[in-house]
Amino acid sequence: MKRIAVLTSGGDAPGMNAAIRAIVRKGVYDGLEVYGINYGYAGMVAGDIRRLSIDDVGDMISRGGTLLYSARYPEFSELEGQQKGIEQLRKFGIDGLIVIGGDGSYRGGAALTELGFPTIGIPGTIDNDIPGTEFTLGFDTAINTVLDSIDKIRDTATSHVRTFIIEVMGRNAGDIALWTGLAGGAESIVIPEMDFSMEEIVKEIEDGRKRGKKHTIIVLAEGVMKGTEFAEKLEQYQNFHTRVSVLGHVQRGGSPSARDRVLGSVFGYHAVQLLEEGKGGICVGMMGNEIIFNDIVDTLKNKKHIPYLSLYQINKEISF
Ligand code: ADP
Ligand code: F6P
Repeated sequence: MKRIAVLTSGGDAPGMNAAIRAIVRKGVYDGLEVYGINYGYAGMVAGDIRRLSIDDVGDMISRGGTLLYSARYPEFSELEGQQKGIEQLRKFGIDGLIVIGGDGSYRGGAALTELGFPTIGIPGTIDNDIPGTEFTLGFDTAINTVLDSIDKIRDTATSHVRTFIIEVMGRNAGDIALWTGLAGGAESIVIPEMDFSMEEIVKEIEDGRKRGKKHTIIVLAEGVMKGTEFAEKLEQYQNFHTRVSVLGHVQRGGSPSARDRVLGSVFGYHAVQLLEEGKGGICVGMMGNEIIFNDIVDTLKNKKHIPYLSLYQINKEISF
């Protein structure tokens, strides 16, 4: 293995740059040439590929986003796109690839490996919804960003005795809502993985108000419904002076937390090592502070990301 390449794909996540930095630095340390592919699989097919030096990743450990840019490129699901991509990699003399992204990006990596091109996956998404790892790159930063907003919203909610629906990202997963709801002391957490009863939420708000509680914070995962829709349903019961805050893409940006920088560095380092050992079709992950390696195809087919649903019950019993 002489030349390896790295790309970022799907939604960007804080910590991707830390991983790219680790890949370049570890590669150079071991005498490899490292190439960066711009704009994910779209850039691979277009041949938008450049050599990365240790200087290219200088000052990057603290930056959010991805220095390689990202893109969604559905054409890569087709064999023709994958073959074109491999052709481009071969043109540059590249013989191993690291893909940083979510499960869609993993599918691309699995397809490349099946076509004989060794590819390693690094889980990078704020959603924390990838099987084969407890935590994805970007999740920790995103939940701290959300938490900062919840704390601020709580101030104004209390001043005006209001109910706030805070809609957070996560696609179909509830992890962001679950963790920030508990950390932010939300009275209710609404996530796709758990059924909820509007009557129960209404009763909790009423009970809280009777006890003199001045605010209600409901953290809602976007995978359940839109915040405005939820507010409309809630207000049908009573006027709770409800306001909706959709946090949106602010959750994807910002300087990565210490945890995401460490995770990016560890994932990047091991991904290079796997390619050096001649391995492909593997995704790296973290489980109980241990780095783990799984077969990508098996992970996508047979494993499911399981959120820490016990947080939900704990919150119910301590944040009413
Ligand atoms: P994420 O990686 O965050 O899940 P997407 O689902 O948008 O984000 O996937 C990112 C990219 O991965 C897609 O735009 C496409 O280029 C590639 N991809 C997704 N699904 C497949 C697939 N089944 N086969 C090959 N490539 C895929
Ligand atoms: O997967 C990351 C994510 O931010 C999801 O939480 C969200 O549903 C989606 O991407 C938003 O996608 P886009 O940036 O294309 O609007």
